Amino acid sequence: MTCFEHLPTVRTDYDAMAQAYAAFIGDAFTGSPLNHVLVQAFADLVQQSGGGTVADVGCGPGHVTAYLRDRGVDAFGIDLSPQLIAAAREANPDLRFDVGDMGALDIATGSLAGVLANYSIIHTPPDVLPALLGELSRVLAPGGHLLVSFQALADTEGTAEAFDHKVSPAWRYSADHVLSLLRQTGVEEVARLTIAPREDPVRGFPQTHVLTRKAPA
Ligand SMILES: C[S@@+](CC[C@H](N)C(=O)[O-])C[C@H]1O[C@@H](n2cnc3c(N)ncnc32)[C@H](O)[C@@H]1O
Repeated sequence: MTCFEHLPTVRTDYDAMAQAYAAFIGDAFTGSPLNHVLVQAFADLVQQSGGGTVADVGCGPGHVTAYLRDRGVDAFGIDLSPQLIAAAREANPDLRFDVGDMGALDIATGSLAGVLANYSIIHTPPDVLPALLGELSRVLAPGGHLLVSFQALADTEGTAEAFDHKVSPAWRYSADHVLSLLRQTGVEEVARLTIAPREDPVRGFPQTHVLTRKAPA
């Protein structure tokens, strides 16, 4: 069961930090226009493509799920950490939040209009990442959009590198690597945005947002 070995650590680490994490991350998200410019575009594209349900996977305390709701998207959240899910439910009683593993979704194949993973793939080890991205693609309907955001490597630096994330063991990935894995799952690049390292006030990493789409039926 190699695939699931990292999950108890991530769950315990985020449970322990849930209150502190929930207290600051919402403002960090809304306070930086670059951090949500593609989330806004994702919301608009889902609506323009006819709407439908969107999963915010690794949703944390649910601020991005709420951002999607505020833009008319039928969004719900999933996270590994019961404590973060409790915080998300408390802050957004009108929204659905489930405890679950985004690598093994209890969601029908081809059923979602969109999937958003905002900095939640970073705790997935490199050998598990292909299967996890495959799972996100599996649940997308034809024409559905997938937005994945993460601390990145410059594309010339390789594919993956561990970094000193404050909460739990984490990896930075290159955009080319993530997109290459995603292509193998049947989604195609629509856009990518890489935010310059100097805009990251904590570690000075580039941050990449990759927007992809499954081919329409
Ligand atoms: C850096 S936080 C990001 C949280 C939120 N998406 C945000 O934008 O602030 C990473 C989140 O991913 C969740 N996570 C990591 N691996 C997961 C998995 N396999 N399934 C579900 N959630 C996961 C963690 O519990 C944590 O809430």
